[in-house]
Amino acid sequence: MIALASDHAGYQYKENIKKLLDELNLPHQDFGPPTNASTDYPDWGHKASQAVSTGECERAILICGTGIGMSIVANKHKGVRAAACESVSAARLARQHNNANVLTLGERLTGWEVIVDIVKTFLSTSFEGGRHATRVEKIHTLTNL
Ligand code: RB5
Repeated sequence: MIALASDHAGYQYKENIKKLLDELNLPHQDFGPPTNASTDYPDWGHKASQAVSTGECERAILICGTGIGMSIVANKHKGVRAAACESVSAARLARQHNNANVLTLGERLTGWEVIVDIVKTFLSTSFEGGRHATRVEKIHTLTNL
């Protein structure tokens, strides 16, 4: 299950990504907001990130204006590794090296065609493990998050 959330600045991409995930036959859960009215990204980002932290959802995709606010919110949650990605290469490496389980995106920074490739890459790329596993483990053991 993929958790989705945004604020007003990321609302349209959230709606577009829901359609994209439907086309890919990937189940998703929308943690809000329900409209594009002005709102605060932590209100929605925390809910979706919590779902990843508890294991209710395997991944989350969070969208705000830049992807930065959502990444800061998500990385406050235990077990979450969120990456703000503006390129396909960043999305691939976030999976291969960092085993990122949350993707954050900026609707004001990244065009929709690139977003489609970023989302597909993030969801289809495996963690490489090996030396990266030791490093990823330390993210959590050295912070207790
Ligand atoms: C909202 O205007 C904007 O600040 C927000 O979407 C986000 O970019 C924050 O990181």
